[in-house]
Amino acid sequence: EKQGFKHFMLKEIYEQPGVVRACLEAYLDTSWSPESATSPIKLNLAPELYSDLKQVQIVACGTSWHASLVGKYLIEQLAGIPTMVQYASEFRYAPSPLTPNTLTIGVTQSGETADTLAALEMEKQRRAGQSPRFEARLLGITNRPESSLGHMVPQVIDTHAGIEIGVAATKTFVAQLMAFYALALDLAYHQQTLSATRLEQILLGLRQLPAQIELILESQERYIEELAHDFAETQDFIFLGRGINFPIALEGALKLKEISYIHAEGYPAGEMKHGPIALLDAKVPVVAIATPGLVYEKVLSNAQEAKARDARLIGVTPLEASESAEIFDDLLPVPVVEELLSPILAVIPLQLLAYHIAARRGLDVDQPRNLAKSVTVE
Ligand code: F6R
Repeated sequence: EKQGFKHFMLKEIYEQPGVVRACLEAYLDTSWSPESATSPIKLNLAPELYSDLKQVQIVACGTSWHASLVGKYLIEQLAGIPTMVQYASEFRYAPSPLTPNTLTIGVTQSGETADTLAALEMEKQRRAGQSPRFEARLLGITNRPESSLGHMVPQVIDTHAGIEIGVAATKTFVAQLMAFYALALDLAYHQQTLSATRLEQILLGLRQLPAQIELILESQERYIEELAHDFAETQDFIFLGRGINFPIALEGALKLKEISYIHAEGYPAGEMKHGPIALLDAKVPVVAIATPGLVYEKVLSNAQEAKARDARLIGVTPLEASESAEIFDDLLPVPVVEELLSPILAVIPLQLLAYHIAARRGLDVDQPRNLAKSVTVE
């Protein structure tokens, strides 16, 4: 059932263009035009959820927590609603104060993660017997609508990734990002924060993603497989990103550590000078996500700082950006897209890098030591 792939993880990485297509089909209303008096997004959420919404809080663990950090950025930037993201395991013992205007979202691909379920159960109790509007403001984002999560919350967004077998989450992460694009645009529509032109522009960008992911997979896999040879003995890696790609730096580091057992840290690039820069030398490669946008130049200058400490620099960056080509020792090219859409492309080469380094080391990529596909204990 691996369909010719050596591991499920690689097969699932290759399924991502199809997963994004499935999400687009599920979430976008193809009959929508700027003249329509309806949302361009089909999520079937309760109408009470939208009225007078003032705050969003998201709880999740691991990779789902990283997707939630991207989600925060999208909801704040597109819909203008202040959003907090918390680890479910922390939140359940120190819940934030709640108002009837708060929407709580639990994100879990399996729908079975004990900490996330416990946090949501607590939220459900806190809302019980209050107004219908308050009770409706509880939402799950999951790849398993039939899971325990699906039974717990009044509504879910299904992420349509299909079953994921590799323990390291790949296609379910990309699908969670798609769910957050849909949710942020839907909230923006209801909050009236975007012009019709801007909405159309983002929708157009979303529709181009599957072909762009295909392009990255086709053009880079060989190269990354070769590159992985150089890191057979590497003990530490640093991943840098800023803004909407800071969570992608965290995700790149998590993928690498969980399947290759190499110590890896994701850092917001601007924070590096406040401590982690002390770790850098010629033995610690640095992967920087430098995609065009507000923080592009800043990431490049942070990467220069690492280069000055002899770090080998790997750049996730468009080929068109000639400034980057001069700074980086190795390039993992991604197509130029608007900044908001860049995380879903930037994560693809990082998944391949983690996969090939682990495979090169001869490790059991699909079943890493000490990990289980869903963590059903506290
Ligand atoms: C990372 C990974 C874990 C999960 C985490 C949450 O690749 O698989 O970090 O993301 O255990 O799992 P779900 O999303 O099922 O709640």
